[in-house]
Amino acid sequence: MSESGMSLKADRNLVMELVRVTEAAALACSSWIGRGDKNAADGAAVDAMRRAFDAVAIAGTVVIGEGEMDEAPMLYIGEKVGLGGPEMDIAVDPLEGTNICATGGPNSIATLAVAEKGGFLHAPDIYMDKLAIGPGLPEGVVDLDASPEENLRELAKAKKVSINDLMVCTLGRDRHKPLIEACRRAGARITLLPDGDVAGVVACAQEDSGIDIYMGSGGAPEGVLAAAALRCTGGQMQGRLLYEDDAQIARAKEMGITDPHRKFLVEDMAKGDVMFAATGVTSGAFLRGVRRTKTGAVTHSIIMRSKTGTVRYIEGHHNSQRKPGSFFA
Ligand code: FBP
Repeated sequence: MSESGMSLKADRNLVMELVRVTEAAALACSSWIGRGDKNAADGAAVDAMRRAFDAVAIAGTVVIGEGEMDEAPMLYIGEKVGLGGPEMDIAVDPLEGTNICATGGPNSIATLAVAEKGGFLHAPDIYMDKLAIGPGLPEGVVDLDASPEENLRELAKAKKVSINDLMVCTLGRDRHKPLIEACRRAGARITLLPDGDVAGVVACAQEDSGIDIYMGSGGAPEGVLAAAALRCTGGQMQGRLLYEDDAQIARAKEMGITDPHRKFLVEDMAKGDVMFAATGVTSGAFLRGVRRTKTGAVTHSIIMRSKTGTVRYIEGHHNSQRKPGSFFA
């Protein structure tokens, strides 16, 4: 038995089960791509993901989810999911990039991560300042407390390239104007995402993505999911919660964060054995989106485990004619 209380075999099977859950969410919300209704798209993904968990042999507790019990009907923080089995903590984002899906833009995904009990940082739904780079670089070569210029200089040195060769990724937001200007002044190139920073962080660990470093603020729950992915692929990430008022600090403390200004590393956000799964909803550099066919749909997913570091891409050909009910919402 592993530390998580699962046999290696059960663990290997579980990661395969998880892809069914993200596939179900992606298929369901694909009906809402480009229809301009992000809430309907999100609702379809949440509902399908919640139902798909019923077939997974775990006793799961949602620790990163759709919100508090009183504000989210399903996949709320503390909700129990799964058929029963080993106790696991679950982080979900049934539709990461609700706006992108609603407008038919690139890179919206259905995603989740699973860890042994206590493995995930219980992050409140506030902003987190994030910094990430891929694997194979000296520990601490970049730091959240350093300026963008310093980080780019150190990263270029470690990668033995010029700063001009580096590609930064961040969300295209007004609050990032100073960061964007600093990166450009330093000579780096920069990719601005419309939404979806989980894919942006993961891109740092994907050799062919062309992204060298992720910088900027986004959702803290998405930060935990991205850290779970980096536990599997390798890579460094730092995150610090950003507060708008004292109530948010109090909320973080309530959720067990004793030092609200702490700089969290990957292992602080996702520790122990971790599994990560994602299915593309709309196509992007990370994953291809759901494509309809004459007989159903094709999905493109990624699954990975921290224990072995194996990363698998799975193409699912779903036949709607042989399934009871429709998998589209
Ligand atoms: P949603 O899927 O919840 O809409 O989140 C999309 C997202 O872009 C996240 O990837 C990111 O962490 C967060 O929103 C950034 O928030 P904001 O849009 O306020 O900058």
